[in-house]
Amino acid sequence: LERPERTGGSAAEPVGSRLDVGPQVSVVIPTRNEARNVEPLLRRLDEALHGLSGEVIFVDDSDDGTPEVIARVRPSVRLPVRVHHRTPAQRVGGLGGAVSEGFALCAAPYAVIIDGDLQHPPETIPALLGTAVEHAADVVIGSRYVSGGSASGLAGSMRHLVSTGSNRLCRWVFPRRLRGVSDVMSGFFLVRVAVVDRAGLRPDGYKILLELLVASGRLRVREIGYAFAERHAGTSNASLTEGARFARRLFALRVPKPARFALVGASGTVPNLLGTAVLHHVGLHYLVAAIVATQIAVGWNFLGCELLVWDRETGSRLRRYPAFALINNLDLVIRLPLLAVLVGRWHLGVGISTLMSLAAAVIVRYLVVDRLVYRR
Ligand code: GDD
Ligand code: MN
Repeated sequence: LERPERTGGSAAEPVGSRLDVGPQVSVVIPTRNEARNVEPLLRRLDEALHGLSGEVIFVDDSDDGTPEVIARVRPSVRLPVRVHHRTPAQRVGGLGGAVSEGFALCAAPYAVIIDGDLQHPPETIPALLGTAVEHAADVVIGSRYVSGGSASGLAGSMRHLVSTGSNRLCRWVFPRRLRGVSDVMSGFFLVRVAVVDRAGLRPDGYKILLELLVASGRLRVREIGYAFAERHAGTSNASLTEGARFARRLFALRVPKPARFALVGASGTVPNLLGTAVLHHVGLHYLVAAIVATQIAVGWNFLGCELLVWDRETGSRLRRYPAFALINNLDLVIRLPLLAVLVGRWHLGVGISTLMSLAAAVIVRYLVVDRLVYRR
């Protein structure tokens, strides 16, 4: 599915017939198994965008025949409708990845992101667009938490709590960027396509709006209220996994990569120390305990790096592990002889010796780097 040309007019065609006729607004709809919702959605969209020039782009990750339903309804809809169906192998980044791909397909200067389950009212789209034009805004957020908005469609008080809680958390983590934004979690918003820096977005998970607001430069943001409705049919795809993804992403957005690496590395001291002490306590020789506990700490650091530092979703973890483990085991060259002296000769405790050996490893590494790498 290609992004259509914004300006047209080949030699054969009269100029003017295709200039300026691109749509004003591209409605991007991420869908995952919404076969029962897309027909009523398209009908309401068609009605709501009456008098506007718009287009509809589905970015679909469904296995339930959603594209077939869209194809069946399309002829009776005035709006141009396109479907970008992603095969299971192409489904990178879930909902966020789908929206990000949608941005690349927009022919209009404004994109409106809207859910495919009718929780977001299509009738609000003209107001989003009107607000953007009137206030020269880059982003107009459909918010449940300003006047005119309501969150009654959030099934259960638990989801309500999660929604307001994560909104608060985001504003606490990014007080300046998110000043005046009441609904960072909103999945219903307009954005000027030109301000979307797709390369800077690393959207995996639900919170594409947060990514946009944090990763882009200064943006002019407005909000308008809307009533979050109950799901038309089916069940939400939100889950605990998505929640964990979100927390990781928030951390990664806030803390630079080298600092995340340092934090994970420092945290490895805990399993290393604890592991050595426990294994020694249950009868292992202290050098064996140190080697085994180091493997536990390396595994801990590896997981930390995978989840919090590099945050990769592609490639095989198993393939990365050997090189990572090798490099992180080099410390033992220093630590084991030192432990042999501290515990074996001087009869110091295993715990304190482990801690000293870990500190020594850092110091030796510093000295080696200082003398060999940065020598004048
Ligand atoms: N392409 C694609 N791929 N679409 C997806 C995927 C996916 O992996 N997962 C979900 N979707 C689509 C759904 O089909 C629906 O159209 C929309 O994304 C929202 O998914 P829901 O599963 O209905 O999410 P929700 O109702 O729990 O959450 C919505 O409201 C939240 C506010 O509380 C979303 O809009 C969230 O972004 C929003 O934060
Ligand atoms: Mn929903």
